[in-house]
Amino acid sequence: MDVGIAESAEHAASLAADAIENLLRTKTEAVLGVATGSSPVGIYDELGRRVSTGRLSLARASAFMLDEYVGLRAGHPQAYRSVIDEIFTRKVDIDASRVHGPDGTADDVKAACAAYEAAIRTAGGVDIQILGIGTDGHIAFNEPTSSLTSRTRIKTLTKQTRIDNSRYFGGDINSVPTHCLTQGIGTILEARFVILVAAGPAKAEAVRQTVEGPVSALWPGSALQLHPNVTLLLDPAAAASLTLTEYYRDVWAHKPDWQRW
Ligand code: GLP
Repeated sequence: MDVGIAESAEHAASLAADAIENLLRTKTEAVLGVATGSSPVGIYDELGRRVSTGRLSLARASAFMLDEYVGLRAGHPQAYRSVIDEIFTRKVDIDASRVHGPDGTADDVKAACAAYEAAIRTAGGVDIQILGIGTDGHIAFNEPTSSLTSRTRIKTLTKQTRIDNSRYFGGDINSVPTHCLTQGIGTILEARFVILVAAGPAKAEAVRQTVEGPVSALWPGSALQLHPNVTLLLDPAAAASLTLTEYYRDVWAHKPDWQRW
């Protein structure tokens, strides 16, 4: 696992955009894994800026979302499909029909989850998966005690996640759905490269557990230790509880360019 401690969240976003730009240079039809939440917004903004100056294009790329609420009507402003349209799809030149997400309105949830797994496979798998992390260590919506080999399925959100996400629902936890469909940890671990972005002190413990804790279903992010190609891009506050900080900085500073992305 590589740990990049950036000067700021904006700097971290720009480094993640560098990785995506680098991928698109050699693979115009790249498959991106896109996360919602506030953490990746800076990355999408930076990609948008680079698209608008002609520096890169996502016109031939496709994208797969991580998760979706269950119980929100299609088009609900907080449905993750709407959120991804707003924060990602509209900002770049990707073809909206190639941005996919799990169907949180499906009557047959099991079939919808299986279809989503199949769609990812058919697309050739995810080249770069962008991840945020919850304060309780969840990745996508894989809450603590999620199976480390889980696939796309329905999950119940923890109270903490519903409290955290109530800011998008007028501060009312009762308006936050109780269930979601989410790629499993096993699904996420099949992405070829994972970039996790985290900023702010509220993420410091989840980051510490992810990087330096034991691999444990209690801190789902720690499953990333099993993946051979993961980079965490942190602001100083999110990195504040790590113990080997000096080592991470040293590794980052001396990384040969060819090894960077
Ligand atoms: C949600 C999403 C996650 C995201 C997390 C953190 O629960 N399902 O994918 O990582 O929130 O959100 P934020 O980046 O806003 O802190």
